[in-house]
Amino acid sequence: MDLKIYKDKQEVAEQFSGYFVDQLKNKDTFHVALSGGSTPKIVFDVLAENFTDKVDWNKVHFYWGDERCVPPTDDESNYKMTVEHLFSKIKVPKENINRILGEKDPEGEALRYANLLEIDLDRVEEVPQFDLVILGMGDDGHTASIFPHEIELWDSEDHCVVATHPDSGQKRVSINGKVINAAKEVAFLVTGASKAEKVEAVVERTEGSEAYPASLVNPASGNLVWFLDEEAASKLNQN
Ligand code: 6PG
Repeated sequence: MDLKIYKDKQEVAEQFSGYFVDQLKNKDTFHVALSGGSTPKIVFDVLAENFTDKVDWNKVHFYWGDERCVPPTDDESNYKMTVEHLFSKIKVPKENINRILGEKDPEGEALRYANLLEIDLDRVEEVPQFDLVILGMGDDGHTASIFPHEIELWDSEDHCVVATHPDSGQKRVSINGKVINAAKEVAFLVTGASKAEKVEAVVERTEGSEAYPASLVNPASGNLVWFLDEEAASKLNQN
């Protein structure tokens, strides 16, 4: 586990963007699962502003680690956010954008998306393998859309599950723990003081942390990188 701690959200986004571009080097194709959330939004702005022409976007195949089951025009949509902050500013072939279309039939879409992952991605021990999975972490320790109240979804056989937001009841489609932990590389982007307690619990494996889905992220490759700002890292021993 590699902890990278930076001053603030903007610096986390800038440093992660450089890391992301480095990950693409010397790769013919690159399959990445994006995350929703406030830090990835800034990452997309940084990539769009600084790397439009410096990256061969044709080799990047975009997926989502999770998506809300709303129309693609809804402000809740991770796809909409990514179009606004990235895809509207870089040239990426439409066929490289593998949306989750869960608005109408979340169960059916979870199956379609799981099949898409099986077909499009390399597989390790029968599990689709991303080059990179980008994750955030909620104040409650959720990651992707696996929430503490449904932590059993983490080990689903299906690779892609239908989750329910604990407060709003909003349905979401999410990859599960098997797919996340099969990735060659996993990067957490976590910023803000409200995350500090859970960052300490998950990173330092304190008692009870196993109740938080984020604590179950443990890629078999061993390549797990945390991009934190000082606020989110403020309770870690290293500080
Ligand atoms: C989503 C994300 C979710 C997010 C966390 C953290 O679809 O919202 O996948 O897991 O990463 O809720 O979000 P913030 O970084 O904005 O706090």
